[in-house]
Amino acid sequence: MLNTREISTILISKIYKGDSLERSILLEKNFQRLEGRDKSLVILIILNTLRRNGQIDYVISKLAKKPFKKDSFLKNLLRISISQILYLDIPHHPIVNIAVEISKKYGSEKFVNAILRNICRNKQTILSETPNHLNIPRWIKNDILDVFNKNKLEEVASQIVKEPFIDIKVKKKEFASKDWTKILNGKHIFTNLIRIQESQNIDKLPYFKEGLWWVQGLSATLPVTIINNIFKKIERPTISILDVGAAPGGKTLQLVDSGYRVTSLEISKRRINKLEENLNRLNFKTKIINKDFLKFKSNCLFDCILIDAPCSGSGLMQKKPEILIRDKKIQSLVEMQSLMLKKATSLVKIGGYIIYSICSILSDEGKNQIENFLKNQKSFTFENLFGEIKEFGQIISNNGFITLPSLSNKEGGIDGFFITCLKRNKL
Ligand SMILES: C[S@@+](CC[C@H](N)C(=O)[O-])C[C@H]1O[C@@H](n2cnc3c(N)ncnc32)[C@H](O)[C@@H]1O
Repeated sequence: MLNTREISTILISKIYKGDSLERSILLEKNFQRLEGRDKSLVILIILNTLRRNGQIDYVISKLAKKPFKKDSFLKNLLRISISQILYLDIPHHPIVNIAVEISKKYGSEKFVNAILRNICRNKQTILSETPNHLNIPRWIKNDILDVFNKNKLEEVASQIVKEPFIDIKVKKKEFASKDWTKILNGKHIFTNLIRIQESQNIDKLPYFKEGLWWVQGLSATLPVTIINNIFKKIERPTISILDVGAAPGGKTLQLVDSGYRVTSLEISKRRINKLEENLNRLNFKTKIINKDFLKFKSNCLFDCILIDAPCSGSGLMQKKPEILIRDKKIQSLVEMQSLMLKKATSLVKIGGYIIYSICSILSDEGKNQIENFLKNQKSFTFENLFGEIKEFGQIISNNGFITLPSLSNKEGGIDGFFITCLKRNKL
């Protein structure tokens, strides 16, 4: 049976080749055979290696004389070993010994031993010479620098290397009746939202099975918070909302919980199954439509259309650090977002709203996308309805609101999101 470090190397190799963390773990039999504690260790090593990818590769490039072949197993063995030596609280000797043992299969034990011992000896100097921003790929870094500045980049970089917290949204009518901070051992950070430490077994937490809450990051709750500022409680049962790209359902659940008439539209059947599972657990109902939004036809117009568009996910660097090692591939996403926005214009009432949100901080998916929209759609205006959530981000280009991992003063940070609110004023 392979040991945890060899399994970590196999998995990180697959992820560097393009597989998702979720898929590679699911399909790796050696990982599935591990005990719970060992599984947690492997995941910790992998996430840490991804979060520190740029710092680790910088160190390797300084110490290895020759470049590695593409997809080199040895390079990935060094990556996971360096991530433990420099950034995890694990004794160094066993890390080096295990790596040397594994590298014997490749006849590279001397090379691996020399590099890792060098790093152990010079750990403090290496740490002081490798800034956190090395971990952010250039395509995301350039965008942060364009819009903000170097200090902001450093702040984001030092936030995303930390373990993220988990936010739990409690049903409105259940929130006042229980001491949720005690029950979930967390902090109350925003409306009905409790922040807890990372937990491997979410479904074992109290009141999960009873369906009194769901997992939803603080940023992801903000689009519906804005919708709730537009429509008064009393009128909500008559307000029709189309939730576009609805699965797995965070925003649909929040909308139903707030009392609207919700239609949830989603292109993926597989993801609809997840949406239905979540709705059933929470004992919520909505009208579900499994369709491509671009082909969707409706006899009636909606008071509000929430487009939670497919995007690069660049705002989720902390929770999904795989994004840090991927190339920029956003052209088709930007086109799809633009088509979805255009489609929504034909389905919203006069006086109604389009709320557009993405878990990305890239200008082309956010502020530039909306600039183009407003240029072409003269019957729509940008509405600044972000007063209640201003502590979590800032207005950008006078056409949207952006959160950055470093912009929230809440302990544990916040995902990067772009949200905008567009009102249809006339035909
Ligand atoms: C960011 S995710 C939505 C997350 C969801 N709103 C939530 O809060 O849990 C984007 C979703 O849009 C869906 N999607 C992508 N293209 C679509 C299209 N043309 N029509 C409808 N849904 C689409 C994707 O399958 C994906 O589930």
